[in-house]
This record gives sequence, structure tokens and C-alpha cells, in this order.
Amino acid sequence: MTSGRTKTAVLISGRGSNLVALLDAASEPDFPAEITLAISSRADAGGLEKAREFGVPTRVVDHRAYPARAEFDNAISALLVEAGIGLVCLAGFMRILSANFVEAWRDRMINIHPSLLPALPGLETHRRAIDAGMERHGASVHFVRPEMDSGPVIVQGTVPVLPGDTPDRLAARVLTVEHRIYPLALRLVADGSVRVVGEHVIVPAGVRTDDPGLIWPD
Ligand code: GRF
Repeated sequence: MTSGRTKTAVLISGRGSNLVALLDAASEPDFPAEITLAISSRADAGGLEKAREFGVPTRVVDHRAYPARAEFDNAISALLVEAGIGLVCLAGFMRILSANFVEAWRDRMINIHPSLLPALPGLETHRRAIDAGMERHGASVHFVRPEMDSGPVIVQGTVPVLPGDTPDRLAARVLTVEHRIYPLALRLVADGSVRVVGEHVIVPAGVRTDDPGLIWPD
């Protein structure tokens, strides 16, 4: 395929709406990353079918087939190496990766998390945002570090928490910003615009999009 585009794998466990957002963005010829592999930890992940519709090779690595986490990670590593992958995007990937794996992909693996990190790491972020009375919520794209939902943030997108919100309504509002910020972050990582310096992401002013709903690192 096109030379000069970074071969990128997307790891999923579920419906894959962020995978589709990345596939849509990468279908533009000038996008600096090319999605060449989708890996799911579950055979029944809806995202697998979406990847196939885009003609992207898919693989299933079912964690239940691997008694130890390291073996599961090694199976994924083997697929990534075999496919010549340069960047990894976690998109609703529900398995914790070992520290060795994460370090091997340091600053070459990004994740999307549905909160304004460092607030609300972990699960059920929308319910927790409502319960805590937060006025704003959102999503973060960050480089992956061994500790779950940590790591230098590349960009965040914010939404208001509205009166009467349910976790599902709020989740739907957050998902729309997820689909904007994940392709944006992948583009900036793949084209070399962003750097990690001392566990902080530097985003040059010239590449920051002028969108009031976005938060860039200081
Ligand atoms: C998203 O909310 C993402 O932020 C979180 O898991 C969810 C995945 O959704 N990590 P989808 O599979 O991309 O639709």
C-alpha cells in the first residue's frame, strides 16, 4: 500500500465505534497512519465485522486460550511484529497488558478513555461523573503506561453534564467527542507532530485545532 504511512494496529474487545472513526479517518489518502490490522480479545466483538467491511485483516486473540498474561501478550506481540506495525491504538480493549508489553511499545501505543484524565480512571466513568456532580466530563487520548488509564495525555474533548443525564445519555455525548479526538490524536502521533518530554506531551501551537471543546496539554 501507500509508502510512508505508519502501519497501525487497533486492539478492540467490543462494538468498535472508535475503530470505525479511525478507519474512516485513515481512508483519506493524506492521513499519516494506515490501519493494517485489527485484533480483538473476543471473537464476538462487533468491531471485527466493521474492520472486515473496510478490508482490514482481523485476528482474534482470546485471552481464555492463554493461561498466563505474558503468553497472551506474546501472542499479540507476534501478530504486531509479523504485520510490521509501528503504532498501536487501544480502542475499547478490555484486557490489561503486562508492563513488559507496554514498555516495548512506549510512546508508540495510545489509548482512549472516557473521562478527563486524571479524573475517573477505571470503569463506569459516566455514572461516576454524574454521581460526583461533575459539571464537565469527556474523553482523553493518552500514551499508554503500565498503570491503567495513566500516561501522558495528547488531547481531551469535553462535554457538559446536563440536568437529568443518565449514564447512557452522557456516554452517547462523550462518544461523539471520542470519535473526533481519537483520529486527531493518531494523526498528530503518526506524523511526528507530538513529542513526549519528561512524561508530558508537547503539542506545537501550529498543529492544535482551534476547537473550544478540546483541551491541549499545557
Ligand atoms: C469507549 O468509550 C472508549 O473510550 C472506551 O471503551 C469504549 C469503546 O467503545 N475505552 P467502542 O468499542 O470504540 O465503540
